[in-house]
Amino acid sequence: MALLLHSTPERGAVWGRIFADAGEGFIADEAGVTDPALVTHLACWTPPADLARYPNLRTVICVGAGTDHFPPLPPGVALSRTLAPGIEAMVRDWVVMAVLALHRDLPAYLEDAARGAWQPRPARLARSRRVGIMGMGRIGRLAAESLGALGFSVAGYSRSGAPVEGVAVFGADRLDDFLAGADILVCLLPLTDRTRRMMNDAFLARLPAGAGLVQAGRGAQLDMDALRRALDSGRLSAAMLDVTDPEPLPADHWAWTDPRVLITPHVAAHTDAAEGARHALAVIRADRDGQPVPGLVDRSRGY
Ligand code: GLV
Repeated sequence: MALLLHSTPERGAVWGRIFADAGEGFIADEAGVTDPALVTHLACWTPPADLARYPNLRTVICVGAGTDHFPPLPPGVALSRTLAPGIEAMVRDWVVMAVLALHRDLPAYLEDAARGAWQPRPARLARSRRVGIMGMGRIGRLAAESLGALGFSVAGYSRSGAPVEGVAVFGADRLDDFLAGADILVCLLPLTDRTRRMMNDAFLARLPAGAGLVQAGRGAQLDMDALRRALDSGRLSAAMLDVTDPEPLPADHWAWTDPRVLITPHVAAHTDAAEGARHALAVIRADRDGQPVPGLVDRSRGY
């Protein structure tokens, strides 16, 4: 039984030490595989091309949170996504930064600053601003807690509408009500057939006039042309995106130079190597003990 890591040598060194301490079999890269039958677990961001090479593969572990980029796996091979406090906290931090940036008009002040224009604008209290978070998984709940602590009036949206303590959660049947109450909309949804291109003209039109958009889900959820039209019509006042369509965003894309849009290049979270290795160890142990695998992805659901 061994885990094969498909990553960088730097990460391999960190994982190697942690696996050695734990007494678990570890192969730092494909070149080190002497007997493919030994490989029972594979950890990677993008899997190597030929997984059928490993006849005893049980679980593939994605070292990130989103697994939409994974191809179908061989029959019987499970997929686990990394649950790591570091990833969750980093995305939460990015979302809080983006909500505050839109709440306090940072895009407009950056535009003023580029022209050397000293131009104070009116400011609002956080408690008068309604933030709507789409995606009430672990990261959504963490973001809701932090934004609530800052005073924002926070609501959540999830497909099921399952209750979350301290947050009003709207289900799919109440999406219109949820959107109508989102002065700043935050997207943390996974990419699935239901969420692909979900944020189109009709969707954005249901937000209050002048809303802000914070996108930390997946680029393909937002129609970038619809974003531009919503900004031009005043439906949206500004947006901050960590994910775009396409990625990387071409250097001549309109969104780079539009002062109403702030972009970071898909960096909201990085998986800490040690945390990733610890998640993988938890998967291996759960697998061995016949326990539920942490972070197991339901591929029919898409997350
Ligand atoms: C990054 O986008 C991740 O899914 O971890």
